[in-house]
Amino acid sequence: MKTSALRTLLRLTAFALAALAHLAGAAPDERSPYVANGCYQCHGYVGQGGAGARLARTAYSFEAFAALVRRPANEMPAYAPQVLDDRELRSIYNYLRSLPEPPRVAIR
Ligand code: HEC
Repeated sequence: MKTSALRTLLRLTAFALAALAHLAGAAPDERSPYVANGCYQCHGYVGQGGAGARLARTAYSFEAFAALVRRPANEMPAYAPQVLDDRELRSIYNYLRSLPEPPRVAIR
């Protein structure tokens, strides 16, 4: 293999590893209430969205956020306090608020 091709390959690998490390730093522990209660299944491990809305860095107040989880608008299952207490819900909220901002993407 040519040296320049090898260099490009190494650069790409380094980039992929850096991107992975960035995500791994943000990913929640599997025992965290966000994962344990299955939010990730529809909203993604880092709140990026999927079947459910994007939740990362939510702009809702805790009260508004809690109301949406207790009485969802449509397809999301409702989480009663008996299943998910306010302490856990607060921890989920804090986790989502703490997520890093996504990198800026230039569109030309
Ligand atoms: C089975 C899929 C599913 C699961 C599990 C789920 N959600 Fe949702 N969520 C949705 C969908 C779909 C919506 C869009 C509204 C609707 O259809 O009810 C939503 C909407 C929301 C919203 C409102 C977002 C907005 O911008 O309006 C919040 C907040 C939310 N979910 C939080 C959570 C949390 C916290 C958990 C875990 C305790 C969770 N969700 C688990 C599917 C899910």
